[in-house]
Amino acid sequence: MLRPKVLITRQLPAPAMSRLGEVCDYQVGTEDGVLDREALLSGVRDVEGLVCLLTDRIDREVIDRGTKLRVIANVAVGYNNIDLAAAQQRGVYVTNTPEVLTDATADLTWALILAVTRRIVEADNFLRAGKFDGWDIDMLLGTGLTGKTLGVVGYGRIGRAVARRAAGFGMSVIYCGRDDIAFRDDPQHNALMMARRLGIQAATGPINQSARIDGLAARRATFNELIEMADVITLHVPLAATTQHLIDRSAFGRMKHTAYLINTSRGPVVDEVALVDALQSGRISGAGLDVYESEPDISDLLPGMNNVVLLPHIGSATRETRTAMAMIAVENTIDALSGRVPRNVV
Ligand code: GLV
Repeated sequence: MLRPKVLITRQLPAPAMSRLGEVCDYQVGTEDGVLDREALLSGVRDVEGLVCLLTDRIDREVIDRGTKLRVIANVAVGYNNIDLAAAQQRGVYVTNTPEVLTDATADLTWALILAVTRRIVEADNFLRAGKFDGWDIDMLLGTGLTGKTLGVVGYGRIGRAVARRAAGFGMSVIYCGRDDIAFRDDPQHNALMMARRLGIQAATGPINQSARIDGLAARRATFNELIEMADVITLHVPLAATTQHLIDRSAFGRMKHTAYLINTSRGPVVDEVALVDALQSGRISGAGLDVYESEPDISDLLPGMNNVVLLPHIGSATRETRTAMAMIAVENTIDALSGRVPRNVV
């Protein structure tokens, strides 16, 4: 039987490559880094499967070139790098890798929360620069988390995992979900939320206003309430038309001066120019960032600021998680090319 052909844009962990090799003939675009556009366009011509990374732009041109394509398996939970409409029009499955990266990303979110509120990077640099000449009562004071409010924007798997961890730090949690974000400027939606808060039965029936997750009570809020009330605001939304620049100048204007913003979702969810202004002017206290608006480029001003912690998009970067992500992408590819519906079609 003819084995299906697959292009893997970049070398993946060995177990994933050998699993794919059991069923398919594959070619690897590049050993490391991002596959060059021309190589991607020519590589996709002859294959039925494409395994790609979030750094690969799989737009209509690529999908049109891949006339034999049956599946595009992204090694990421986010898939804003893929033109989903173009793939769907052609009947090509698009898959992602949810679940396996939830804990790694939630852990990294907390690493950022702790790093920025306790000034960990600044303190490390201070010591390395030979400035530590003894304990002092007001040296490198940070901000405590106990009794503060964590605002979780986006309440999917990762948002909930971040919220669960808040119990260990004595924080209370408020959250808003997809509808609260999409309809954030709709007075009707916000009025309905308020009515539910006050216990007024809506025409649609009673709505549970709080969610209990592993013993943690999290209260649902409107987007604007969350932005105004939270001491730490953490973003866990996919990048879409409704979330691009969700955190803009006006959102920064509503935040507490003492607030911290954490972004481990996608860079364009935050207006980076407005963020830099908010950090420079003291509009907010600090930020912990793993993603940027025009990755890998970042604003020239960010590295010079002490009140930000900057990571190079490593939310899911543990050996275990990256291997698991690659394995899922490969299984999705094998399923599609064996005539089965892949588990993680988006
Ligand atoms: C990482 O950013 C992912 O979407 O998997």
